[in-house]
Amino acid sequence: TTVHYTDAEGTVRDIEGRPGDSVMETAVRNGVPGIVAECGGSLSCATCHVFVREDCLDTLPPIEPMEDEMLYGTAVDREENSRLSCQLKLTEGMDLYVTTPETQV
Ligand code: FES
Repeated sequence: TTVHYTDAEGTVRDIEGRPGDSVMETAVRNGVPGIVAECGGSLSCATCHVFVREDCLDTLPPIEPMEDEMLYGTAVDREENSRLSCQLKLTEGMDLYVTTPETQV
């Protein structure tokens, strides 16, 4: 179960995660920069914005209406592949590639 975080400068960090944790929690716990997560995962800050590599999108649960709404409040404009990383739970054997935006605030 691995999450590959690429920052805005192109530096890649490969982090071994625990199934059940979110992509946000995994970043915070491992000191991965680029995810602020002001609200701690309660879907009220949009500072955990990530871009998901296109071929990984299908492996994720669909965007719920509340996440969709919050994605309009991100510091860097949302794209087709935008998600809030606190809403993405790691699953067994997952191999997920995300890029963090230039800024979250
Ligand atoms: Fe606040 Fe994800 S951590 S919305």
